[in-house]
Formats: sequence, structure tokens, C-alpha cells
Amino acid sequence: MAQPNNGQMIDMARTTDKAALNEWYAVASLTDLDTSEDTLLLGQKITVGPGQSVTCDGAPLAVREKYGCLWTTLGTPNGEIFDIEEAAETTRRFVPCGWVKMRASGLRVVENFLDMAHFPFVHADILGSEPHTEVLHYTTEIRRDVDEVWATNCKFFQPQMTATRPEGEFAQLVYRVPAPFIVMLYRTVPDTDGMQDAIALFIQPMEEGLCRAQPVMYLTDQASTHTELLRFEQVIFLQDRIIVENQRPLLLPMEPRSEIPTRADGSSIAYRRWLKEKGLTYGTTLPETDVA
Ligand SMILES: [Fe+2]
Repeated sequence: MAQPNNGQMIDMARTTDKAALNEWYAVASLTDLDTSEDTLLLGQKITVGPGQSVTCDGAPLAVREKYGCLWTTLGTPNGEIFDIEEAAETTRRFVPCGWVKMRASGLRVVENFLDMAHFPFVHADILGSEPHTEVLHYTTEIRRDVDEVWATNCKFFQPQMTATRPEGEFAQLVYRVPAPFIVMLYRTVPDTDGMQDAIALFIQPMEEGLCRAQPVMYLTDQASTHTELLRFEQVIFLQDRIIVENQRPLLLPMEPRSEIPTRADGSSIAYRRWLKEKGLTYGTTLPETDVA
């Protein structure tokens, strides 16, 4: 059911998409939860507060506190929230970067995060630079044992990989999609014995075409100030917001051959196939009834 809202038609119906309902979602930062606040999850109004989450009818929802966030679900998750091993390493810097609201499908935000080809154009002279525009061959797989999408052996020339690396070099990257609305990046730290920074992006799908997202980082960097780390990530993320908000359609196209794949899109193809297998349609161009 669509309702008019400031001249825009938005879908405020409660979704029946079980694949979306049965996931855990980060819906608030624990540091923001001194008092209760209203928010939207999958088109449904919920109220979150210290250690609790309830529907607008007052029904309590399951909650967890993890990775600096309050997590909740509108359905029955198959398991617990996915594991970030690096979160348990006490020597790491924990850098939650704050929520950014975007007029875009959360699934589009995941795809943008997976896409290396945009680095030289969207993050010019930071995460990429011309003429280093080629996406080298990498491997994508749906890992059946854990039900996650991974892209490994990714390499991309980055002029300024992190706050402390002003000289260009090839970044060694691994991408992981542990849930439909969560995406992670592992970035090998230069001059270490293969240590990796872990960067997660938690997405709260508010409506099909509206979400907010928060990057949460577990970093090895002991030199930069918290503000420097935060600013670096916020600059990147605000550049991405402009891109995802201008993509059309707003929702993730799932019809066969709706967007022509290139080699750079291997992770995106695997991601869409995985969503389709799950029967997840919330935030896609497919109607709910299209997938059983
Ligand atoms: Fe980006």
C-alpha cells in the first residue's frame, strides 16, 4: 500500500518478506540510547531504548548488544549475529563512524561498497586515481557452510589507502557479505605479517528505498587520532552517498540482464544470485509475490 508523503509515494506496508524479516539489524548506537527513540525498520515503526526494542503496538522484539550497536529483528533469525573475529582483539582501535541516512535501497549501498571500479572516480586521489582504473581479476564465491558471499584476492591501486599512508600502493582487499544488509571489508595492513583492518557497514533498511548505514571499524592503526580516523571514513562515505542516491532505479534491479555485467561486477553478480536464492525481495525491483 502506497501512501502519499510530501508528494512522493513510498511503500509503508508491513513487508511479508520472511528473508528480510528474519535477519538481525543494527538499529541504534549504544551511546545514543540514553533515552528511547522512534525509528523505522523494514517499513515498520519501532521504538528502541536502553536494552529494548518494541513495535508501535508495544510488542517486545528480541534484542542484542554487539559491535557498539543495539540489534533487533522483526522475525525469527536462523542464528545469532555474525561474528567479527577482530572485534575480540583488545589491541585494536574500535571506531564507530556514526549513522548516515540515504535515499536508496540498502542493497544498493551494499553493492556500492563491493564495487572497486568506482574508486578512481568517486574517491579520486584517495582510494583510487586515474589512470589506475583497472579492476584486476578476483575470486567470488557463495560459501555454503556459512551462507555468506566472499570476494577474495582483490587488488586495487590506491593513492592514499588510509589516514597514515600518503604514498600510493596496491591495496589487498577481501570483501564479505555476512547478511543481506551487512557488508565488510578486510584490508591487509602494509608492513605487517598479513594483519588486516576490519571495516563493517551495518545497514538499517528503513523503507525499501530509504536506509541509514554506519561504518564500524576495528583498526590496527595506533598512530592516528580518533578524529583523523573518523574524518577519513566520513569523507569517503559522504562521497558514496551522492552516488547511491543518484542511482536509478532506487531499488536493486533483479531482473535478468537488467544491468550489463562486466568483470568488475563479479561480486555484485554473486550477491544478487545469493539474494535471489534466499527469496529476498525487500529493496529490489521484484514484487514480493515474484519469489516464493
Ligand atoms: Fe565508495
